[in-house]
Amino acid sequence: MTLINSNNLIEEFISNSEQETERKGSSLAKTLATETTLALHGDFGCGKTVFTRGIARGLGIELPITSPSFTIIQEYEHAHRMLYHLDLYRIDTEENALAFGIDEFINNKNAITVIEWADRIPNLLIGDCITIKFESVSLQQRVIRFYHKSVPSSLKSD
Ligand SMILES: Nc1ncnc2c1ncn2[C@@H]1O[C@H](COP(=O)(O)OP(=O)(O)O)[C@@H](O)[C@H]1O
Ligand SMILES: [Mg+2]
Repeated sequence: MTLINSNNLIEEFISNSEQETERKGSSLAKTLATETTLALHGDFGCGKTVFTRGIARGLGIELPITSPSFTIIQEYEHAHRMLYHLDLYRIDTEENALAFGIDEFINNKNAITVIEWADRIPNLLIGDCITIKFESVSLQQRVIRFYHKSVPSSLKSD
């Protein structure tokens, strides 16, 4: 099943530094509805965690944001909203993601959920979802492409 096609491309952004990537995440965060899921795709070192730090900063979270590659999830709370930051690198199948309980994070209407390596779970992403694909062009340059996929929120649970 193809969930994303090129028609869903919202924006292509060129980042020339870590700071620019973080700022992009921060400005996006200020526009997000609380129940949004951000599905991040891209190889190691292309800026997914840096971008997520920007999301956190944009939401007013000042704590250090570190990669949850070992813990799989980090949870943050600010102003009665949750930010869930997941890294699915170690979760290789949708079955394992469900066993971990990922649907509870994705379905939470009070949370923004950011998922690194979201390409592991294409069929589990329901509700308002923005897919963001990161590509390293050079040591300092990244192309960041934003795609939108919307599924009726009636599919979401409370
Ligand atoms: N334009 C850029 N945007 C984001 N990170 C960059 C950029 N240029 C260089 N970097 C470096 O790339 C690395 C990105 O790391 P990270 O965000 O942890 O990647 P990922 O989570 O995708 O594995 C950092 O070391 C950062 O300093
Ligand atoms: Mg990362």
